Amino acid sequence: MSNEIKTIGVLTSGGDAPGMNAAIRAVVRTALARGLKVKGIKKGYNGLINEEIIDMDAKSVADTIHKGGTILQTARCLEFMTAEGQKKGAEVCRKHGIDGVVVIGGDGSFRGAQDLARYGINTIGVPGTIDLDIACTEYTIGFDTAVNTAMEAIDKVRDTSTSHERCSIIEVMGRNAGYIALWCAIANGAEDVLLPERYNNDEQALIDSIIANRRKGKKHHIIINAEGIGHSTSMARRIEAATGIETRATILGYMQRGGSPTCKDRVYASVMGTYAVDLLCQDKSNRVVAYKNGEFVDYDIDEALAMTKDIDDYQFSVSMVLAK
Ligand code: ADP
Ligand code: F6P
Repeated sequence: MSNEIKTIGVLTSGGDAPGMNAAIRAVVRTALARGLKVKGIKKGYNGLINEEIIDMDAKSVADTIHKGGTILQTARCLEFMTAEGQKKGAEVCRKHGIDGVVVIGGDGSFRGAQDLARYGINTIGVPGTIDLDIACTEYTIGFDTAVNTAMEAIDKVRDTSTSHERCSIIEVMGRNAGYIALWCAIANGAEDVLLPERYNNDEQALIDSIIANRRKGKKHHIIINAEGIGHSTSMARRIEAATGIETRATILGYMQRGGSPTCKDRVYASVMGTYAVDLLCQDKSNRVVAYKNGEFVDYDIDEALAMTKDIDDYQFSVSMVLAK
């Protein structure tokens, strides 16, 4: 084990995601098993700057693996976007004897980790976001739970949609990314899906598709609309006016971010949390844990943040072929 690292900190940052607690638990318990001390940094980079730092032991994470949200709480911190804020964060780490920090969050949080590393603190990022929008990894903590929550909710909307022979626009989260929308479109057998990465604003094509389906005898028409496109309520009004078919919008919202994590989120988050601590123990810093081609791997944060990814066109075509 490294002579350098004696105490590590762990924080969650950006939007919370189910499975973050499993990751925190893994970080804490792995660190203790490797002979390190652990400090929990509350409320993301805000808590770092404001020194909301607590000692953590094995008991601090007891009874948390099955819980949604994050026991450390999370925040978005504008001050940490400035050099002053980042310097202060690094000083607070040194003051508390924290020589390595595990940051669980999305791309934005990784940029913060990159800055902390620049100011001399060893950092490892763990991908935590329901959006699946981190380029270097095929898995992010929370996505699996979020799509399962959304899928169950959409099944319910479909029941009532069929009973009333309505068209339903269901808006799912994902910021500017369409991964949640695409997975739900396939899993729920939606008739149409609108992805920020692909939608060309051709509402007439959507209207034609609804009318054609109704002529075929379909009793409902489910449209999954990604948050990055939005405007589901006004879209519903326009579609109803153009088709004469009752159309309702449902915005699933924050229910997708809460709830008990799925088995996959608990297991992957646990492995990633342990992996992050092991990287710190190997004197590695400025790295991010990822899941790629069936394996847990790690990348330099600079390299990871420069990567891009896009919706899989084959999966998109599957959603369209199966909807007809
Ligand atoms: P996510 O981590 O889910 O992408 P955000 O983009 O909101 O969420 O970022 C979370 C927090 O990470 C921000 O509130 C800020 O404190 C920090 N952060 C984001 N971008 C940067 C940046 N470029 N430099 C330093 N810190 C950043
Ligand atoms: O990143 C997760 C996410 O839920 C996005 O899907 C959404 O755009 C955003 O966070 C909402 O953020 P807030 O909690 O600030 O409303």
